[in-house]
Amino acid sequence: MKILVTGGCGFIGSHTVVDLLNEGYEVVIVDNLYNSKIDVLDKIKKITNKDVTFYQYDLCDYEKLQEVFSKEKVDAVIHFAGLKAVGESVNKPLMYYENNLFSTINLLKAMKSYNVKKIVFSSSATVYGSPKSLPIKEDFPLSTTNPYGTTKLMIEQILTDLYKADNSFDITILRYFNPIGAHKSGLLGEDPNGIPNNLMPYIVKVATRELPILNVFGNDYETVDGTGVRDYIHVCDLSYGHVLALKNSKSGLKIYNLGTGHGTSVLELVKTFEKVNNVKVNYKIVERREGDIASCYASNDKAKEELGFSPKYNLEDMCRDSYNFVKTNQ
Ligand code: WQD
Repeated sequence: MKILVTGGCGFIGSHTVVDLLNEGYEVVIVDNLYNSKIDVLDKIKKITNKDVTFYQYDLCDYEKLQEVFSKEKVDAVIHFAGLKAVGESVNKPLMYYENNLFSTINLLKAMKSYNVKKIVFSSSATVYGSPKSLPIKEDFPLSTTNPYGTTKLMIEQILTDLYKADNSFDITILRYFNPIGAHKSGLLGEDPNGIPNNLMPYIVKVATRELPILNVFGNDYETVDGTGVRDYIHVCDLSYGHVLALKNSKSGLKIYNLGTGHGTSVLELVKTFEKVNNVKVNYKIVERREGDIASCYASNDKAKEELGFSPKYNLEDMCRDSYNFVKTNQ
């Protein structure tokens, strides 16, 4: 089977491509390299000793997309490509709506015209907004507080309406919680340009002294130690969830949480990181970040029962692998 992976040079996309190749799938990547690097292709080759077909195209260019579908006999699509910085989306909403929605609509139009009906979509726990209770289940109410999250919610709606109109589509929506960690080889990992928005890449930059101190956004939440609680999941557990989604024989429109089911606070993550890597992470408590919620963690029962999803890496693995990636690539 040949899988088209959009955004396949990105953090989660590249780890998923490795898993797909190791499972014997052929892979075609379409990535405009806006937020990723082409040397990821060499690293995928080093890890798997397999080649991928690569198109440096933008999904917003429909003609280019048609070229890919006409050249490649694709059996299914995994759709990662999209802008994903929450803060940036608040400042540049039109860029986020145009890019994330137009690219997806182009992709679905091309799939329909070339009769490719199986798609796995990269969504996010951010569609749950501030949950009414925990753990979060897939049938919880949906609401978003920023344009990035709203594009995810809108795309889920587009997929739902597409399925209602044409139930020959086989659609799987995967709602990620907080992916961190890196491939055990140290060759693939999260390497954002500039100052990181997310916690783990920021911790890593403080540990390597690239940044002086971690700002902990508030310690007055109703949580175990007052700091924000999230469901951190190893990127390699998350990536394998996509292979399981492809193998899932159930047809129709399916939605799954991909998280570990455990919540970890900011300070718990910092302490774990320091312990497993034998480093000091300087931090100071500052004001809450606009839009943050206190706690968020998944019920992953549905993914376990229907996909056989079973995360195998723990928080120490995530901290060790995140740090190892940066040390290996310094
Ligand atoms: C985690 C915790 C912060 C940075 C976002 C998106 C989500 C997904 C993952 C794309 C919170 C605290 C953070 C820092 C801190 N992105 N924090 N200091 O906000 O849960 O989720 O990223 O798909 O869609 O919403 O992740 O890593 O930014 O924050 O104290 O410098 O760490 O307050 O409690 P978040 P995060």
